[in-house]
Amino acid sequence: MSAGATQATLGLDTFKDIAALAYRESGLLLVPEKLLMVQSRLRHRLRALQIHDFDQYASLVCSDPGRDELRFMISALTTNVSHFFREPHHFDLLTEHLLPIFRKKIATGQRIRIWSAGCSNGQEPYSIAMHLCRTEPALARADFRILATDIDPNVVAFATRGTYPEQQLTAVSEANKSGFFEQAPNNAGCLTVQDYLKKIISFRELNLLGAWPMRQTFDAIFCRNVVIYFDTKTQEKLWPRFKEALAQDGMFFLGHSERISSPDSFGFSTIGPTAYKADKQLSAIRHN
Ligand SMILES: C[S@@+](CC[C@H](N)C(=O)[O-])C[C@H]1O[C@@H](n2cnc3c(N)ncnc32)[C@H](O)[C@@H]1O
Repeated sequence: MSAGATQATLGLDTFKDIAALAYRESGLLLVPEKLLMVQSRLRHRLRALQIHDFDQYASLVCSDPGRDELRFMISALTTNVSHFFREPHHFDLLTEHLLPIFRKKIATGQRIRIWSAGCSNGQEPYSIAMHLCRTEPALARADFRILATDIDPNVVAFATRGTYPEQQLTAVSEANKSGFFEQAPNNAGCLTVQDYLKKIISFRELNLLGAWPMRQTFDAIFCRNVVIYFDTKTQEKLWPRFKEALAQDGMFFLGHSERISSPDSFGFSTIGPTAYKADKQLSAIRHN
């Protein structure tokens, strides 16, 4: 390990170059107050690459040959905090509004799709799957799938493994632990999600600012605690895209400190705290 790299100092101009790149690539808004956080998180990358100063690092990530490192940079700068059964009132709303629709779909063999956009280490999509399969066990045998995506390849790989230290499972009930987890092989103190639940979920790398290759609409989209890191301009570019990706009457969930201001102008109606429905009466006004 190079002592020089460990101590490298990030100057304001270089910070601004890195922040502009992170914004362009991922929507992350890095204000100057975040300089020390960025310095500390990226020192690990300098060390891994044996680069001794931030100017050299910034030149690399801004160049074509630096595209791979750019992914690691964004990964280092994103905040991946998540918990099982976070904001449980959303699960109640899901049951109340969508379970009757899901039951009809199960009876007629129709597909049911949910998207966890910005899924981090997988706690959110696994919680959705556990909640719904426990409430309506027939879902486990129905055409029910959850797409779980994140920009950060490291969290996508972690979530796909689905193995968690037991102390991260305190919000998971004993019934859910015994029904959906098993002892992780060769990993003392960890539980892993059982295969039949894993099979419901497809984890993929996806940047919300890029193209969305999905062709089918979703019955519900969870994008919680993701857009809080974006500015209003980026958020307002996403709302119409989420509306477009939702089935008629599909539900859209944001995190506790996120809001759509004037939801009706984006074709949503509010159904609870940070919970919205794609409203057939409301067609989105074009926002550019
Ligand atoms: C704080 S976590 C939220 C996890 C989960 N949704 C929850 O509420 O617990 C935010 C996640 O958003 C992801 N993220 C940030 N910018 C993104 C982007 N442009 N496209 C896709 N995911 C992004 C981060 O990598 C991170 O894993």
